[in-house]
Amino acid sequence: MNSVVDEEHFVGNIYQRFPVNVVKGKGCSLWDTDGKEYIDCMGGYGVALVGHCNDMVVNAIKKQAEQLITCHMSLYNDSRLEFLNKIFTIVPKRLNRVFFSNSGTESVEAAIKFSRKYTTKKGIIALNGSYHGKTFGALSVTYNEKYRKSFMPLLDGVDFISYSDLERLDDIIHNPNNNIGTIIVEPIQGETGIIVPPEGFLKKIRNICDKYSLVLIFDEIQSGLGRTGKMWAGQHWGVEPDIMCLAKGIAGGVPMGLTLARSEILDCIKVGEHSSTFAGNPLACAAGSATIDSLVDDNLVENSKRMGLIFKEGLLRLKETHKIIRDVRGFGMMLGMEMKFDIKDILFDGIRNGILLLYSGRNILRLLPPLVMDEDITKKSINLIDNLITSEEKRRTV
Ligand SMILES: Cc1ncc(COP(=O)(O)O)c(C=O)c1O
Repeated sequence: MNSVVDEEHFVGNIYQRFPVNVVKGKGCSLWDTDGKEYIDCMGGYGVALVGHCNDMVVNAIKKQAEQLITCHMSLYNDSRLEFLNKIFTIVPKRLNRVFFSNSGTESVEAAIKFSRKYTTKKGIIALNGSYHGKTFGALSVTYNEKYRKSFMPLLDGVDFISYSDLERLDDIIHNPNNNIGTIIVEPIQGETGIIVPPEGFLKKIRNICDKYSLVLIFDEIQSGLGRTGKMWAGQHWGVEPDIMCLAKGIAGGVPMGLTLARSEILDCIKVGEHSSTFAGNPLACAAGSATIDSLVDDNLVENSKRMGLIFKEGLLRLKETHKIIRDVRGFGMMLGMEMKFDIKDILFDGIRNGILLLYSGRNILRLLPPLVMDEDITKKSINLIDNLITSEEKRRTV
């Protein structure tokens, strides 16, 4: 049996795949079938937030699996209540209701529906470069034409603006035909290449939402839960949303999506208007409680900030010596390194050299390592990336 070859017989050709058959993970490391270790800067696209097989998460899952695995939201459950008590200690105070789902895109779907019902307006403003998922609603507010073009028509009434379009924003909102009720933003764009908004942008968006009574949705699916060195990326600019979407690492790798909202928004949804069979699953909730415990008790947000600074400084040093690096950006453990060329060979060379790296588009290295990374592994990762870029430069000069 060879999973790398045999899986291909069964699954659609839907993902950009890498030839590594992963059998084990711990902390920042993954191991393949041959026992080869990799530093995981891909981090399961940000899911391995508190580290692979985090001890607290593993123990919580084991304990819960022996007790109760499934319990529909139509019944009550202690593990769910424990999770609820914990999540509401870390989210902004104004978000005091939650809808449970199982993935990022579902969390965004719910946010769009809740805002539509609350505002009674169908118009949504999203950002150029945004990524919010691939189900129809989330795809409608996702910018990249590559993801959208085969699935038209999408939701009506979505306008995309750029960061420098704030004046156009007033025009769009003032036009009654647009019937704008919602603005959706990733506080830091992930998929598009770790794009940090210009200073003051999110504050202005917040002010506009307050002025025109619009609902502001923050998609913190990639940027939240300590990833950027603060619990929420919005905190870098002191801005809080009316709805916040979470998923990825919230349950230590077990699927969970959350749509957190102000009570007046979520309370306008009536029984039956939205639901999910797996919602509030006890196994995911137990894993989620352990994830929050690990984030708080192990000081992972602070660690993300500290290691992120070391990582970023290291990458900025590489930029001084390697002319093929165009830019280094991001906060905490959400970093991007933009190159002047296609990085495919670097990714594959990384695999050969024991480091898994992520990409954004063709020329941006995206780093979403677990927040548990220590200084040694951070420095080792910088050295490995240095070697990969040196080899790429050599390939390019011969
Ligand atoms: C910001 C953001 N929103 C939404 C999603 C979609 O999440 P999922 O793939 O779990 O549906 C992602 C996934 O990468 C994301 O980064």
